[in-house]
Amino acid sequence: MTYELASSSWGDEEIHAIRRVVASGRFTMGEEVRRYERAFAEKLGVRHALMLSSGSAANLVGVAALFYRTKNPLERGDEVIVPAISWATTYSPLQQYGLRLIFLDIDLGTLNMDVSRLEEALTSRTRMVVGVSILGNPAELDVLRDFCDRHGLILFEDNCESMGARLNGRYTGTFGDLGTFSSFFSHQIATIEGGMLVTEDTELYHLALSMRAHGWTRDLPADSPLFERRADDFFEAYRFILPGYNARPLELSGAVGIEQLSKLDRMIAVRRTNADHFKDLFADDPRFMIPRENGESSWFSFPIVLSPDASVDRTQVMAEMRSANIEFRIVTGGCFPRHDVIRHFDYEILGDLANANIVHDRGFFVGNHPRDIRGELDHLRVVLDRAA
Ligand SMILES: Cc1ncc(COP(=O)(O)O)c(C=O)c1O
Repeated sequence: MTYELASSSWGDEEIHAIRRVVASGRFTMGEEVRRYERAFAEKLGVRHALMLSSGSAANLVGVAALFYRTKNPLERGDEVIVPAISWATTYSPLQQYGLRLIFLDIDLGTLNMDVSRLEEALTSRTRMVVGVSILGNPAELDVLRDFCDRHGLILFEDNCESMGARLNGRYTGTFGDLGTFSSFFSHQIATIEGGMLVTEDTELYHLALSMRAHGWTRDLPADSPLFERRADDFFEAYRFILPGYNARPLELSGAVGIEQLSKLDRMIAVRRTNADHFKDLFADDPRFMIPRENGESSWFSFPIVLSPDASVDRTQVMAEMRSANIEFRIVTGGCFPRHDVIRHFDYEILGDLANANIVHDRGFFVGNHPRDIRGELDHLRVVLDRAA
């Protein structure tokens, strides 16, 4: 038996949806994507949902939009408070738009930003906080929201790993001024590639609509305040108002998204049942640190950090897992400032990132799936006992 990191969550419905698109002959973004966006907005209870080609594209277009809003746009040199552990493309758009990153350590219990040092990170240049809920576990988004409101900051939520998670009954991804999602393979839902941007702010939504497709006006409603439509059809069809991208999703991904979204609750319920078993197996073993749930996690995967107090060697653990066909990987992207790419960033580190470094050096995760994997988890437990 191989205990895989990820597996397909598709059934006949997704294949059928793809056949429907193929039969239609329309592969580029169209009505299926719009239907998926409407279903997504309704499911999350948000005003606007915009599908993009990936979660990374959603982060990029979201950051870009903040530079072109009329009131208090972001400016180059502004500071953004970020957690030390996230994915590379949480950070890349911030670098590309000339922002200065202030890295905060993470809480070893949740793997999310340690919010106790937020005030210390604040300067007169601080304009935004990026909240990331790691591997399905809600970050302290209520604390981040309150902090941002008190200081007039933007809260950008990268929720690419945590679709369907909730904090105080509210979906993660909806606490921010903007929230982003990924539906890449292995995520809570999978649309081949795909991302989503959600917001209550209609101006940001219009900016993102334009920047998703070349910076043109074509996808904007006729009454959009971003531009005044002229009578001249010849230039109006190709009218560029913003420095945009092409980050459009495929129609196939939209069609699959509709089916996957309708299964989200069921799939998360199964993931949570697996998680209950994972917690039962590992909760009381001081050698293995497993996440403390904040709110209701959508359990992307099962991270384990080998306790710094125990003498368990990760190399030994990894060798045992390899020979037992258990797949594993680093926690998200590890401690980001440890990667070579950091030399291209303008940044500062608050403190020493001791916890993020522990996760980098002593952490890993194994997969969760929307099917019963209690047998795989039992196998993992036996193998880890052997290695430790
Ligand atoms: C926190 C986070 N942000 C952004 C992304 C990027 O999403 P995508 O792979 O859809 O580009 C990921 C990828 O999983 C992620 O984990």
